[in-house]
Amino acid sequence: MFIRALQVALREKSNRIIGPGSPGFVVNAFSSAPSSQSQQRLAGKVAVITGGASGIGKATAAEFVRHGAKVIIADVQDDLGHAAAAELGPGAACYTRCDVTDEAQVAAAVDLAVSRHGKLDVMFNNAGISGNPKLPPLAAVDLAGGFDRVMATNARGVLAGLKHAARIMVPRGSGSIICTASVAGVVGGLADPAYSASKAAVLGMVRAVAAELGRSGVRVNAISPGAVPTPLLMRSFASRFPGKSAGEIRRVAAEGFNPMVAGTAALEAEDIAWAALFLASDEAKYVNGHNLVVDGGLSVTINAK
Ligand SMILES: NC(=O)c1ccc[n+]([C@@H]2O[C@H](COP(=O)([O-])OP(=O)(O)OC[C@H]3O[C@@H](n4cnc5c(N)ncnc54)[C@H](O)[C@@H]3O)[C@@H](O)[C@H]2O)c1
Repeated sequence: MFIRALQVALREKSNRIIGPGSPGFVVNAFSSAPSSQSQQRLAGKVAVITGGASGIGKATAAEFVRHGAKVIIADVQDDLGHAAAAELGPGAACYTRCDVTDEAQVAAAVDLAVSRHGKLDVMFNNAGISGNPKLPPLAAVDLAGGFDRVMATNARGVLAGLKHAARIMVPRGSGSIICTASVAGVVGGLADPAYSASKAAVLGMVRAVAAELGRSGVRVNAISPGAVPTPLLMRSFASRFPGKSAGEIRRVAAEGFNPMVAGTAALEAEDIAWAALFLASDEAKYVNGHNLVVDGGLSVTINAK
């Protein structure tokens, strides 16, 4: 009798379990926002975001502020930077001009966080430029004008951000440094050698300093986005796919570079901002030296469609 009652109860329970094919089944990856998005996951934290005037950096600044952080937007696009800070509110965000190719300007942006808010909890080394969008053959690669220029911003600029964020964070014994790399630094064939090398260098730097900083309670991680339709990508694809409208370029980015696009929306700057939010938050307190790839699976498949 007891066994039979148990069997009935188990059958009823298994009928209620939501699985693939049942109407309520939702794969986590397809939900529109992190479940804890309503909580203030960065309350009281202070962040500097390079490249924060546009695209991924701007979306991350908004997400950080939504979660209680004070943000310093460091960029070279003054009008956009001031506008982004004003949108977020003067108490929550401010803009400072900072060209990351100049170490002194990176140092000054970090020092501004300390003079304004007394500390630095999060450094997002995100500023970047594209390489040659036309993907020239190796024989046509321009070392001085192309490679050096891209490396100065994407790699050297990140190293400057790491160095100066660590200068503030290590003595305090805490902090999270996040560096924007790229799927192009993980697999070949997506960008020109200069851009790919600059992003692979970012991953190398993160790994090179993770243990040193980790011993002082400072974490350092990378995020590698797939194709996100930011101004950088739109400009780059406009020259790579001449004659295409903005809508067509968005479609190329979504359908040609994102295996998940059929099942969910296109990859957006907010998806990267949510990854940065996690790495910045205390929920990631044991994540160090990691490369968080946010590309819908592009870099682990030979068939993006
Ligand atoms: N959009 C993508 O598909 C994609 C994919 C992988 C990686 N990324 C990386 O994401 C990061 C953000 O790019 P995005 O796509 O948001 O492009 P974006 O052009 O919208 O933003 C980049 C920002 O960096 C700033 N910047 C450029 N050079 C700078 C410098 N020397 N000093 C300070 N700021 C500078 C720009 O003014 C701009 O505001 C970059 O590192 C980029 O390489 C982008």
